[in-house]
Amino acid sequence: MARVAIVTGGTRGIGEAISLALKAKGITVAANYAGNDERARAFTERTGIPAYKWDVADHDACLAGVKAVEAELGPIDILVNNAGITRDGTLLKMDWQAWKEVIDTNLGGCFNMAKATFPGMRERGWGRIVNIGSINGQAGQYGQVNYAAAKSGIHGFTKALAQEGAKFGVTVNAIAPGYIDTDMVAAVPQDVLAKIVAKVPVGRLGHAEEIARGVTFLTGEEAGFVTGSTLSINGGQHMY
Ligand code: CAA
Repeated sequence: MARVAIVTGGTRGIGEAISLALKAKGITVAANYAGNDERARAFTERTGIPAYKWDVADHDACLAGVKAVEAELGPIDILVNNAGITRDGTLLKMDWQAWKEVIDTNLGGCFNMAKATFPGMRERGWGRIVNIGSINGQAGQYGQVNYAAAKSGIHGFTKALAQEGAKFGVTVNAIAPGYIDTDMVAAVPQDVLAKIVAKVPVGRLGHAEEIARGVTFLTGEEAGFVTGSTLSINGGQHMY
C-alpha cells in the first residue's frame, strides 16, 4: 500500500513542489490549503492531487480535516508542516494581531497537525514528520520578530517531538530554507531583497524543488536513523 502524506500549504510555492515530489515517489498526497480556492483548483486540475481546505491555526479544523483525508485516502504516514505566513514589520510597527497570526499559523499549525496525526503514526509504528522552518528562525531577521520566533520555535518543537517519536518509528526533522523564489519572497521590497541576495554565496534565490528534494530524503523509508535534525538549504547564506 502506498504511503499517505499531508502537505500543509501544499498547493502553492514550496508546498506545491513538495506535494509533487512526494507524488513522484509513489506516495498518495493530500494538499491542504487555507485561502486561495482558485489556485487550489488549478493545482488539482494540473497535478491530480486533491486539495483540502482548512486553516492550520484552527485546532479543531485540523482534527476534522485530517479525519476527512483519512476517510478518503487512508491513515496518514507522512506530515509536512509547510504552511506559513509573513506579517513583516519592525517591532515598533508590529501590532499584536500580526504577532498572533504568525505564531498561531506557523508554530501553532505544527502543534495542531501533529496532534491530529502523530498518535496514529506512533500506534502503527511508522511515521515521518518534516517541519519547514527558516533561515530567519536560525539567524533572526530585521522586521520579523514574529516570524523568526515562530520558525525558531519550530526547530525546538522538532527536537522535542523527535525524542517522543524515536522508539515508535516516527522521525521528526526540520528543513530551514533560505530565500526561495516564491510569492512570499517576491513580496519583500525589491531593494531589500537585492541586498539579501547579494549576501548569498551561491548568488541566487533557491528553487522550491530544491527544498522538496530535502523532504523526499527525510520522508524516505531509508531515512529512519535521521531524526531531530535540521537540514539547512540556503545557498550558504547562514552556516553554523
Ligand atoms: N539591518 C539593520 N537595519 C536595517 C535593516 C537590517 N537588515 N533593514 C532595514 N534597516 C533599517 C533601514 O536602513 C532604515 O534605517 P534608516 O531609517 O536609518 O534609514 C530603517 O531600518 C527602516 O527600514 P525600512 O525603510 O525598510 O522600514 P520599513 O518599516 O519600511 O520596512 C521591513 C521594514 C518591513 C522590515 C522591510 O525592511 C522588509 O520588508 N524587510 C525584509 C524582511 C524580510 O527579509 N522578510 C523575509 C520575508 S520571506 C521569508 O520570511 C521566507 C523565509 O523564510 C526566508
